[in-house]
Amino acid sequence: MKKFLAAILSIVMIMSVGVVSFANYNAPRLSEEEWEEYYMSLISENTLPTLNVGADETQVSLCWHAEKETAKPQVRISKNPDMSGAKVFNGEKTPAENDEQLVCRVTVKNLEENTSYYYQWNTGDAWSEVCSYETKSFGNHKALVAGDIQITEIYDGGDDRVQIKDGLTWNNLLSEALEKNPDISYFVTPGDNTSSGCTAAEWQTLLMPKALRSLPMAMAIGNHDKKGMMYNYYTNMPNEYYGKHFRGLDRDFWFRYGDVLYLFFDSTSGDAPDHIAMAKEAVKLNPDAKWRIGVVHHGIYGAGDAIGDLETELLLTTIFAPIFETYDLDLVITGHTHSQGRSHFMENGKVVANAEGGKTYTDPEGVVYLNSNSVTGTPVFDYEAEHLAYAYVENEVPTYSTLEFEGNTMKLETRRGDNSELLDSITIERTTDERNENSLANSLKRLLYKVVEFVGFVYTKIDTLIRMFG
Ligand SMILES: [Fe+2]
Repeated sequence: MKKFLAAILSIVMIMSVGVVSFANYNAPRLSEEEWEEYYMSLISENTLPTLNVGADETQVSLCWHAEKETAKPQVRISKNPDMSGAKVFNGEKTPAENDEQLVCRVTVKNLEENTSYYYQWNTGDAWSEVCSYETKSFGNHKALVAGDIQITEIYDGGDDRVQIKDGLTWNNLLSEALEKNPDISYFVTPGDNTSSGCTAAEWQTLLMPKALRSLPMAMAIGNHDKKGMMYNYYTNMPNEYYGKHFRGLDRDFWFRYGDVLYLFFDSTSGDAPDHIAMAKEAVKLNPDAKWRIGVVHHGIYGAGDAIGDLETELLLTTIFAPIFETYDLDLVITGHTHSQGRSHFMENGKVVANAEGGKTYTDPEGVVYLNSNSVTGTPVFDYEAEHLAYAYVENEVPTYSTLEFEGNTMKLETRRGDNSELLDSITIERTTDERNENSLANSLKRLLYKVVEFVGFVYTKIDTLIRMFG
């Protein structure tokens, strides 16, 4: 009888492993020597693709540079590693930042959940190497969050050692996170993807980790990205909103994955009317999204306020916080200060309820702010450890966070980037789909926001004049 039970148990265990296991990402952890060899083999090219999230979980997008004469914006995708039965998706090609190349952008659609795919992009004269992309559950799922990757620039004749080191740090943080969390579906970052925003080499280095061929990224724009225009040529974000008054690189975007609506705002732009227009439209189109998450570069309440920069603080508290609150967001992901931390539940600039680590909160009031530290950098802003808004601050090591959506719950965890030791965890449970955005107080706030919109509009016009004549 015991043998019989053991045999049954073994079969059940094998079957359950088969059900819950996920194919690992190809995310090797490399030594300094291995990385340098790999880096040197790629840095002189400018052709690595960016894999970005699509408008929803059934789509992903690619963006890559190819020779001007031969560029073909095509991606083919198959369920077979030999690419048999592949379906071809066509996209568009647009001018690049240099004269020799074009930028190809393609969106792949109709992906099925829990499916292994293989894909190639057209390099101009051939199909690329075969890469794999595995969709996971479109319902319960997990996202990876890390901020301020901030790959350092190399100026002409400059030292490339720092860029090489940044690339390795980034690669190995991804290796650690994906090895411990192979069930991650996509990556969210609050921006400062690059340091100068002006060089192709920063993007080439950023895109080197092999894991990024299989991990779609949703990338906010940071103030460092904004120093140049490169973000424009290396990304393919969904539902981009260019606004009525945005200019240059300014843009917001949104996407939906399962039950989650993500709203990405460009916090370097004080253009309130356009930011609120994007939020309004995205919320209107996604009335059934259980979760609403904002992503902006500049931190408000997470950790390490941009203290001393009154202009930024004013922009954040008068333009963005009211949008987050009137649309009743559950969580806002920020970065910029290179300090890891999380706030309590915030509303009207005040703590409305404590959010202690390790606890679950059901239908809480207020917004939680998660501030990511920097993948490659150290804290650059002073922070007040005793700040009333902070539930938790960590500054010793680069970290990563995960957002796990399961049924009615969202679990936010932050772990050390080198060994995945758990540093912070909080779970929010939603037992109702009701939101308080239509409450009298919020209606009044939206009315008052007309003043903010007007002031924001004036601000952007003055800013434009200062830039023109400054
Ligand atoms: Fe920044």
